[in-house]
Amino acid sequence: MSKAFVITMDGPAGVGKSTLARRLAAELGIAYLDTGAMYRTLGLALGAEAADLPEEELRRRCAAFAFSLRRGEGGSWILCCCGRPVGEEIRTERAGRLASLVARLPVLRSELQKAQQELGEGVSLVAEGRDMGTKVFPGARRKFFLDARPEVRAERRFRELLARGLEADFNTVLNDIVQRDEQDRGRALDPLRPAPDAVLVDTSDLDPDAVLRVLLNSVHAALGRDGLRHEAEPGFTHLAEDGSLRMVDVGGKLETRRVARARAVVEMSASTLDLLRRDALPKGDVLAVAKVAGIMAAKRTWELIPLCHPLAVNYADIRFEIRDEPPSVLLESEVRVSGRTGVEMEALMAAQVAAATIYDMAKAVQKDMVIRDVRLVYKSGGKSGDFRAE
Ligand code: DC
Repeated sequence: MSKAFVITMDGPAGVGKSTLARRLAAELGIAYLDTGAMYRTLGLALGAEAADLPEEELRRRCAAFAFSLRRGEGGSWILCCCGRPVGEEIRTERAGRLASLVARLPVLRSELQKAQQELGEGVSLVAEGRDMGTKVFPGARRKFFLDARPEVRAERRFRELLARGLEADFNTVLNDIVQRDEQDRGRALDPLRPAPDAVLVDTSDLDPDAVLRVLLNSVHAALGRDGLRHEAEPGFTHLAEDGSLRMVDVGGKLETRRVARARAVVEMSASTLDLLRRDALPKGDVLAVAKVAGIMAAKRTWELIPLCHPLAVNYADIRFEIRDEPPSVLLESEVRVSGRTGVEMEALMAAQVAAATIYDMAKAVQKDMVIRDVRLVYKSGGKSGDFRAE
């Protein structure tokens, strides 16, 4: 991974972006760019009157703020303005409000966006803000959009202010958050919204460690896959063309061929499904692991179901279909054997274990997923003939 890459993290005020972006950058050993700090610096320095300045004058004033990134002690990254670290004075609610106000000015935005792109040139970084994925770094290797319910964000910000020894009133903080949301999401220019290819993470019910695991896993999936593409040997036979795992059918030529297929549905929330679809769940590639688990279950069914015969399974596979309505994964197992007994139980076990594996892989983000509709949908071969579910 010698080429520089950018990871973007956008989201509303108080969602925990700064902490997570900083931790993610530290874990990956790359720079961290807090673009909100740039808007705060200009907001504080220019004040609300910036809106009344003629364009050229505003451009001239913006040009006086030269931003740079410097490596601090312990590998942290410090944002500097005119060679001096940006200070704590920008961390007040007033500075946040002013930042949000000046962020609506086209000249100021374009000057800061140019500066941000320059900071990202040739440097790997996690860039945090409102328009990182949509505008400033459209080609980022991974884009995240963090969100959380306004009450949760207000609670976090409220506690943060108290911890810093500042006076705070919860309702004021909540109103402030709601107002900032309206301003940031509703403005005409580069409004806060997820990039179409962003990974959406709802942090309302997750602690920062759990969110960080989701982010790290997703970044590794994005960067690792590209790396693997270069390294993979051509003609690697246990990978299908699309990269999924497949067991080779060795029984096609035998006469007493039996096939069974079973289905199960795992219902989950839309946000869990989104993480699964984007390969961003904390334990890794859910469907690949569920597939292997299902195949193993088919082969070991005789050990678990008391009156089942041991069978030499010729082929076992699990196929998945991701459905948005209701948010769920439909999975179907298929097991084939050449033998004297059917493979319905193998197919049913494969579907159930694959479904339970999906639950296991995703339970860190959702505990109330429902596994349902486990049933045999097809069987062929044997004395009782063929069966196909309605
Ligand atoms: O992330 P923050 O709270 O420090 O940001 C302060 C304000 O700056 C935010 O309300 C909107 C603005 N901002 C922006 O418009 N674009 C960015 N990339 C970052 C911040």
